[in-house]
Amino acid sequence: MTTQTRKIWVVEKAGTFENFKQELEELPPPPPNHVRIKVKCIGLNYADIFLVLGLYSATPEGKLIPGFEFSGVVESVGDDISEDWLGKRVYGISRFGSYATYINVPITYVKKTPNDWTDQQACAYPAQTLTVYYALEELGRLKPNHNVLVHSAAGGCGLAALSILSKKSAKVVGTVGTSSKLDLLNQKYGENPNFTFILREPAKDFENRARQALLKIDEEDSFDIVLDSVMGDWFWPNYELLKSEGKLIVYGSASFTPTGNLHPIWNIIHWIKLGWKYIWRPTIDPMQIVKDNKTISGFNLIHLYEKQERMNQLFEQLQALELEPPSKINEFEFDQAVEALTHFKSGKTVGKNVLSVQH
Ligand SMILES: NC(=O)c1ccc[n+]([C@@H]2O[C@H](COP(=O)([O-])OP(=O)(O)OC[C@H]3O[C@@H](n4cnc5c(N)ncnc54)[C@H](OP(=O)(O)O)[C@@H]3O)[C@@H](O)[C@H]2O)c1
Repeated sequence: MTTQTRKIWVVEKAGTFENFKQELEELPPPPPNHVRIKVKCIGLNYADIFLVLGLYSATPEGKLIPGFEFSGVVESVGDDISEDWLGKRVYGISRFGSYATYINVPITYVKKTPNDWTDQQACAYPAQTLTVYYALEELGRLKPNHNVLVHSAAGGCGLAALSILSKKSAKVVGTVGTSSKLDLLNQKYGENPNFTFILREPAKDFENRARQALLKIDEEDSFDIVLDSVMGDWFWPNYELLKSEGKLIVYGSASFTPTGNLHPIWNIIHWIKLGWKYIWRPTIDPMQIVKDNKTISGFNLIHLYEKQERMNQLFEQLQALELEPPSKINEFEFDQAVEALTHFKSGKTVGKNVLSVQH
C-alpha cells in the first residue's frame, strides 16, 4: 500500500478565516482496522465556524483539520479489514479531520450509503441527525404527543429534528430568524396539524408568542422538551416555557456568533460585543431548578464519539425510523470552504451546507 497525496483545510492559528488555509500533504496507508476513503462530500457543522474562530471549547491544541462527517468511496483497507469494502460507497463520522480529499477512518465509524441516497445526502446525515436524536430520545425521553420547541428549525439540526418528531407524533413549535425560512417550513410541513412555526425575534415577547403558537396546535401552552441551540436572550424564556418535569436541552450557542468581518484588528468592536455577551451569559441557581421541578441538560456529540458501541446503537435506532435523507442541501466546491463557512456564519442558510470534492 502506498501513501496518498491529499488536499486538506487547516486551522493554523484559530481566530480568523485568514488563518484557515488549504495545504497538500501525504496520507500514510490506513493502519489496522481503518479504511482509506476517497472523499466525495464533507458535511459542514456550525461548530466548524466556532473552531476556526477559536470559540470551540472542545478544540484540541495545535494545527487542526476541522470536520466531523464525510461521504465517499473506500479506496484501500488496513490489515484485518475485508477487501469486500473496496469500492463501497460509505459515509461516517470523524473526530475532526474530514476537510480533506482522502481520510483514514476506523471502520467502526463507517456506514454503507443507502443505494438511493446521493453522496451529498449521506454526508449531511450523521452528525446533526445523531445530535438531535440523542437530545430528544436520550436526554429528553421523548414520548408520543410531547410538546417540543425547536430553535433554528430550518437549519441542519432543525430539519433533522422535525424529521424525527414527525415520526413520533409530537406537537412542535419551530423558531427561525427570518421570514423567508418560515415560508420554506410552511411549504414542507404546512399540512401537518402538529407543527407550527414562528419568528424568534424579538426576545422580549418570545415566551408569550411561543405559548400562543402552541395553543394553536394543542390545549396546553407549555413544553415537555425545549431544544436550545441559540442560548443568550432566549435561555430564560426557554426555561420558563417548560412544564413541571420539562427538559431544557442546551446543545449550541448560535447567538454568540460574531457578525461582520472578523479580522481582530479591524473589528475589535465585534469581539467587544462578544465579550459583553459572554460576561452577561445566563446563569442559574440550582435551588431554582429543584423548586421548579425542571431539568437542564447540556451535551456535545464529541463525547459520544468515544463511546462507539452506544453511538452505533443510536445509529441503528435511527435506521429503524426510516427517515428520509436530508432534502435541503447547499453545495460548495472543496476549494470554497472559506466562502461556505462565511455564508453559513451569516445565519441565513437553510438546511445543510456541504463541500463536494472533484477528483
Ligand atoms: N452539541 C453538539 O454536539 C452539537 C452538534 C451539532 C450542532 N450543534 C449546534 O446546533 C446548532 C445548529 O447547528 P447546525 O450545524 O444545524 O447549524 P444551522 O442551524 O444550520 O445554522 C445555525 C443557525 O443558527 C441561527 N442563529 C442564531 N443566532 C445566530 C447568529 N447570531 N448568527 C448566525 N446564526 C444564528 C441561524 O438560524 P435562525 O436564525 O433561522 O434560527 C443559523 O442558520 C448550532 O448552535 C450548533 O453549534 C451542537
